[in-house]
Amino acid sequence: MPDGAVLFVCLGNICRSPMAEGALRAEAARAGLDLRIDSAGTADYHVGEAPDARAVRTARRHGVDISGLRGRQARAQDFHDFTHIFALDHSNLKGLQRIAPAAHGAHLGLLLDLVPGREGQAVADPWYGEEAGFEQTWAEVTAAARALVHQLQR
Ligand code: 4NP
Repeated sequence: MPDGAVLFVCLGNICRSPMAEGALRAEAARAGLDLRIDSAGTADYHVGEAPDARAVRTARRHGVDISGLRGRQARAQDFHDFTHIFALDHSNLKGLQRIAPAAHGAHLGLLLDLVPGREGQAVADPWYGEEAGFEQTWAEVTAAARALVHQLQR
């Protein structure tokens, strides 16, 4: 039995949530934590696609390869398959609440609720901006991944 099953959800599943997936894979491996980790989008625009090249380059600069990930859309069954579901922003959280089954046991919340001082905040969508925005995203998803590893280790 893994120590938990964690799903990250953004809009397209090609920028923010695959970076969060890569960051948690790296942090969990470092900590020796056995987690099932996946990511998804609330939209179906990029199903089957690799992460955005800027996201892949940014993760690679930090020693993490996310090039093999492929986009998929979040679904109701995810609430039964995962113990923790983290939305990257408020719109993604609303989208998840819309598809959630009436009864489920998963924790659903905003990713930055994990980070002291960032509660209630969104991970901004870097898609329309410069590559520097992806560095900001990486810093945020890494802070959240470290906080989650500490929480799950307790
Ligand atoms: P993500 O970024 O939600 O972090 O994967 C986006 C990717 C694609 C689009 C929007 C946001 N799009 O409109 O195609």
